[in-house]
Amino acid sequence: MGRIISFLRGPFFIYLIMVIFSGNYLPAQNSDGNPELDRKVEAFLKSKKNRWHDLNVPDTDGKLLYDIIIKNGYTSGLEIGTSTGHSAIWIAWAMSKTKGKLITIEIDESRYKEAISNFEEAGLSKYIDARLANAHDLVKELKGPFDFVFSDADKDWYTNYFIDVVPKLKTGGCFAAHNVRPPGAGGISGTKAYLSYVMGLENFTTTVNNSGGGLAISIKTD
Ligand SMILES: C[S@@+](CC[C@H](N)C(=O)[O-])C[C@H]1O[C@@H](n2cnc3c(N)ncnc32)[C@H](O)[C@@H]1O
Repeated sequence: MGRIISFLRGPFFIYLIMVIFSGNYLPAQNSDGNPELDRKVEAFLKSKKNRWHDLNVPDTDGKLLYDIIIKNGYTSGLEIGTSTGHSAIWIAWAMSKTKGKLITIEIDESRYKEAISNFEEAGLSKYIDARLANAHDLVKELKGPFDFVFSDADKDWYTNYFIDVVPKLKTGGCFAAHNVRPPGAGGISGTKAYLSYVMGLENFTTTVNNSGGGLAISIKTD
């Protein structure tokens, strides 16, 4: 008990509390990047914290997408389901470091317009090609190739999006799908069918990260 009390009074605990309350949950930046852009994106994300109300991903999932892109050096992104742009901002921020670009698709005009204004405010417009379209059609039409895809629109169409994208996904590329829970942990019917489909494929390795809204991460192995 004495040890717990001295830990709670200790400098590490105080530091931890300061980090949590300062909102400083954002990734560490490397010094040879673009510190001005980093500051702008961080300030934007901080100003919008807890203010994303259009089915947007939680911060934890945004950070997860960011980390996957940085770790693998992905440069050609596709997002299906922009909404007002929270996940696209994390993806594009990562791609500002890998020198990549993101195409993102949204069907709802008012969300699309709000996303455009958010991209501008975050300073990330030049890394994002935002399209107002029905992804059922546009995903088929886009040429690719892509090395990172984030699927977050209509869940009943997940398997169709995947089938349409796979020929345009590079080997080593990632297809990440949101709101997917691990086998046996529930989930929405469309995403359950999707997970069982991708898990049955020999040329993909799929894991599910359950730390936020549930992310199925499928890597194309050949
Ligand atoms: C869960 S939200 C996306 C959230 C976003 N990824 C974020 O984190 O900020 C899903 C979005 O997909 C859009 N959507 C649904 N069906 C679509 C379709 N067929 N084509 C394009 N967008 C679609 C919806 O309008 C909605 O804004």
